[in-house]
Formats: sequence, structure tokens, C-alpha cells
Amino acid sequence: MLVREPRAQEGLSEKLPRVVHRLSVIMKPQVVFVLGGPGAGKGTQCAKIVENYSYTHLSAGDLLREERSRTGSEFGQLIDTYIKEGKIVPVEITINLLKKAMEETMKVDEKKFRFLIDGFPRNQDNLQGWNTVMDGKADVKFVLFFDCSNEVCIDRCLERGKSSGRTDDNRASLEKRIQTYLQSTRPIIEQYEKQGKVHKIDASRSVDEVFADVKNILEKES
Ligand code: ADP
Ligand code: C5P
Ligand code: MG
Repeated sequence: MLVREPRAQEGLSEKLPRVVHRLSVIMKPQVVFVLGGPGAGKGTQCAKIVENYSYTHLSAGDLLREERSRTGSEFGQLIDTYIKEGKIVPVEITINLLKKAMEETMKVDEKKFRFLIDGFPRNQDNLQGWNTVMDGKADVKFVLFFDCSNEVCIDRCLERGKSSGRTDDNRASLEKRIQTYLQSTRPIIEQYEKQGKVHKIDASRSVDEVFADVKNILEKES
């Protein structure tokens, strides 16, 4: 005798809630925060991750620089000053840019729900803004922490400054950026460490050596 599974007899009204639930789980953004000092190699490693895995890279700094130069932006001047001073822009601005970028990415291709969010959250204000705006809307899977000495960070940024055109890759801005990193960002990394969410990587080595560790982590986590 053929025993039919109860689900096979279900109508659309019974199925729909389950389908909607499944879709919302599938499509909920899965986020990896990428943190480390200025010049630690966050952007470099994110680019390599994107080449090899299905992640979209969103750099908070890049989004802010883009907004700074957007014609008609009401925040251009503020962002410009904060960046030169190595200070963290109020989260209301940054979180809107990140949220919009995530939504636009997923609107174009719903399979693009994995994000590397680089350079965020950088202080308590960033973290609170994320928790308020993104609560229930995204899952933070883990944090990649690229760790290297302040000296290495400064040397790399000064080298980058020869061609980057960035207003903050100079010694005066870098001293302030390092202070901001130590005073504001490290405590955020420590909070995530207490939750067992941090993968710390020695970022002082070559790009390929660092990436070998990144690959191991991503393969274990997926
Ligand atoms: P971040 O995004 O953390 O500020 P970047 O990825 O832009 O850092 O790297 C800063 C500079 O250091 C760039 O000029 C980059 O080419 C260089 N760089 C990145 N990773 C390494 C590495 N592992 N070794 C040497 N130089 C690196
Ligand atoms: O990450 P990146 O080095 O590109 O950041 C450059 C600057 O952008 C920071 O020093 C800071 O002034 C600003 N920024 C910010 N908030 C973030 C990320 C970057 O204010 N979450
Ligand atoms: Mg960067």
C-alpha cells in the first residue's frame, strides 16, 4: 500500500509560511567583520577572498570616501574632516551606506548574501548602530582580525601613500589613526573575542602566507 507523506497533501496556504521562512533564512545576509589596524592588509586580503569564495567585499572606508565625493552629499565636508583626523564618522552615516550597499547587492543577485564588512565596527558607536539597525536582519558569523604591530601598519600606509592619493596616508594622520585603533577598535575586537567569534591572524607576514591562514579559517567555517 502506498503511504503518502502528509506534506504531499498540503495546500499552498500550509506550505507558504515554510517557504517564506526558508527563503528568509537563505537570504539573510551572512556577515564576516574584517578588523585590524590601518594598513594591516584588510583590503588586500578581502580582494583575495572575493577571487576565491562567494563573498561581496564592502569596505566602510571606501563607502565613506565615495559618499564624500558624491555631488550633493550633505556629509562630504564632515567625512573629509573625520578621515583626515583619523576619527570615526558617526554611525548613522556609515550604517546607512552599508545597509544600502548590502540591499543593492542582494537585489541584483539574491545568491550574493555573504558579505565581508571591512573596517567596521570600529568603535562602540559603530557597534551600537549595527545592533540597532541590523538586529535580526543579518547574522554576524565571525570576525577576521588581522594583527600586526603599529610600526608595520605605519610603514605600509606610508608606502601606500606614495600612490594612493589618500588624505590620511601621512604620518600626522597615521598617528591619530593608530590612537583611534588602540583606544576604540581594540576594545570592540576584545568584546567579540569574549564571545569566541574572533579568528586572529598574524598579518605581519607576506600576503600569501596571511592568505593561507585565511583560507583555512574560511574552509573550517563554511
Ligand atoms: P588596510 O585595508 O588594512 O588598510 P591594505 O590592504 O590597503 O590595508 O594594505 C595596506 C598597504 O600594505 C597596501 O599598499 C598593500 O599593498 C600593502 N600590503 C598589504 N598586505 C601586505 C603584506 N602582507 N605584506 C606587505 N605589504 C602588504
Ligand atoms: O578602513 P579605512 O582605512 O579605509 O578607513 C579610513 C577612515 O575612514 C578611517 O580612519 C575613519 O576616519 C573612516 N572610517 C570611519 N568609520 C568606519 C570606517 C572608516 O569613520 N567604520
Ligand atoms: Mg582598507
